[in-house]
Amino acid sequence: MSHAEDHAGTRRDFLYYATAGAGAVTAGAAVWPLVNQMNASADVKALSSIYVDVSGMEVGTQLTVKWRGKPVFIRRRTAKEIEEGRAVNLSDLVDGNAENSNLAADAPATDENRTLDEAGEWLVMMGVCTHLGCVPLGNNSGDFDGWFCPCHGSHYDTAGRIRKGPAPRNLNVPVAKFTDATTILLG
Ligand code: FES
Repeated sequence: MSHAEDHAGTRRDFLYYATAGAGAVTAGAAVWPLVNQMNASADVKALSSIYVDVSGMEVGTQLTVKWRGKPVFIRRRTAKEIEEGRAVNLSDLVDGNAENSNLAADAPATDENRTLDEAGEWLVMMGVCTHLGCVPLGNNSGDFDGWFCPCHGSHYDTAGRIRKGPAPRNLNVPVAKFTDATTILLG
């Protein structure tokens, strides 16, 4: 059985939610709860792990997938974004914790501790603002070239770390790993 057949259901869900997620991000934070309700069939909600095919992702693009009822941002970062993220002094951070479920709870919020791969190209994180849960806007938004939450003005940098505004913590990095060169397993 091929990989695609193996995860046919997951792939279908992935494509469906990727479309919904893109719409939510474009239209703003308020749209997401509605999309969430419309899409939340019990079988999908129950999925604790999903495979995401990232083979079609170019450098400098973001994919939003729905996982456990919430948006997850998958960004393939540019060299400039990686450089900016790695140049940041830890003492300048609001939240010095990596907030990465794959690492120890007290791991520092270095750029390297936020990304999935050693080169720092792949950033996977919950698309949920740590202030009151809106969906931040991506694609180099905000004052720090990363994500911006329009609800109350929180700015996140290219590693998804909170830099300005009311949000108290970095965007959470969920349990995730590459299972092959082009597939990410969430959960
Ligand atoms: S919910 Fe994002 S800034 Fe308030």
